Amino acid sequence: MPYTAEHALRSRKDFPALQKRHGVHELAYLDGPGGSQVPAAVVEAIADVYATCNVNTHGSFPPSHEVDRRMQGAREAVATFLGAVSADCISFGQNMTTLNYSLSHAIGRTLKAGDGDGDGDEVLISELDHEANRGPWLALRERGIRVQEVRLLESGVLDYDDLAAKITPRTKLFALGASSNSLGTVNDIALARRLTREVGALLLIDAVHYAPHFPVDVTSLDADFLLCSAYKFYGPHVGVLYSKPGALDRLPTDRLRVQDPASPYRIETGTLNHAAIHGVHAAIDYLAGWGTGSTLRERLVDAMTGIGEYEHRLAREYHDGVRRIRGVRVWGPDFGTRARAPTVSITLDEHTPAAVATALGSQGLCVWDGDFYAARVVEVLGLAQRGGLLRTGISMYTTESDVRRLLSAIEQLC
Ligand SMILES: Cc1ncc(COP(=O)(O)O)c(C=O)c1O
Repeated sequence: MPYTAEHALRSRKDFPALQKRHGVHELAYLDGPGGSQVPAAVVEAIADVYATCNVNTHGSFPPSHEVDRRMQGAREAVATFLGAVSADCISFGQNMTTLNYSLSHAIGRTLKAGDGDGDGDEVLISELDHEANRGPWLALRERGIRVQEVRLLESGVLDYDDLAAKITPRTKLFALGASSNSLGTVNDIALARRLTREVGALLLIDAVHYAPHFPVDVTSLDADFLLCSAYKFYGPHVGVLYSKPGALDRLPTDRLRVQDPASPYRIETGTLNHAAIHGVHAAIDYLAGWGTGSTLRERLVDAMTGIGEYEHRLAREYHDGVRRIRGVRVWGPDFGTRARAPTVSITLDEHTPAAVATALGSQGLCVWDGDFYAARVVEVLGLAQRGGLLRTGISMYTTESDVRRLLSAIEQLC
């Protein structure tokens, strides 16, 4: 089912935050890559846990059975959202960064440090990635593991020749973002999978910026691990880890001896945020409501395809409009292919990104400036000393009028 401008307008009624104003201005949330707003159904689902089953799991009394049922329901919904074969592949955590650190601790223990002759195990990351998919792996250098980085080109695309040269039989893991939260680039995951498979390396995908804009299918991606964050796809602040069946069971995770050693619990430390996790389930059901099909998976794929196409069209409109404004430079790949997230970053010749974001913010136009924690990207592009980038993200509730307002406000500043 196509998702149209009319659907976007209709969706706005579902989001309580979108009904608020900033003085005389309507609020245009163009900050989706930093986090999306939540529909009322998600707020209600979270509140309902506190109202009905705010107890711990695995008890012998009815409210505890209820929270067990909701946790399992959420795992099943996330498994369906990601195309996983079973709920046992889905672990929850505080956020993506924390889960990725837990994984790097565990995987790091299985790697062999080199003795300086280049004979140790290696991990590969990219210069395009968010620090959450770099820092946890760079930390392995302290254990003597060589961490290599795939170069980022000025075009905003990874240097695939450099990738091919840096994947060798010593590479044990490649941690790669599916899509860049700063430039909107969509990486060639199929190539990454082919090259990692050839050398027997694990492939870990950071899908935090990808999952809100494309249907995800972990089975066809053949990821060993995939991480995402529900607060980017209209849910609450919960991190999600998909592990291929068997992949987590072999890992020496940080774990209390009383904790269930089976997957997916093996990497979940302490008590989880049950209410928020039930909210993730509500966000997935909400998204599925925009699709058609006879199964939840079919509805989700249909909805995410339609929403993604709508966002792509609108982002392209903004991209085409903003690049025509004199004094604006647009960064990142263009919109020639569908393999492009609806996130557009620019710089202005005469103003810093922070000054522009502040001026836009005062008109209710919510956009981010800086490096968005993808610090290496702005370093490579030579923008670190100039305040980074000004980033606009398109979400399912963004309208043409939001984009027009943004374009005319930027034009007035130039
Ligand atoms: C691409 C990407 N990866 C990872 C993260 C970190 O996610 P979290 O805030 O859940 O730790 C973000 C957050 O902005 C992101 O955009």
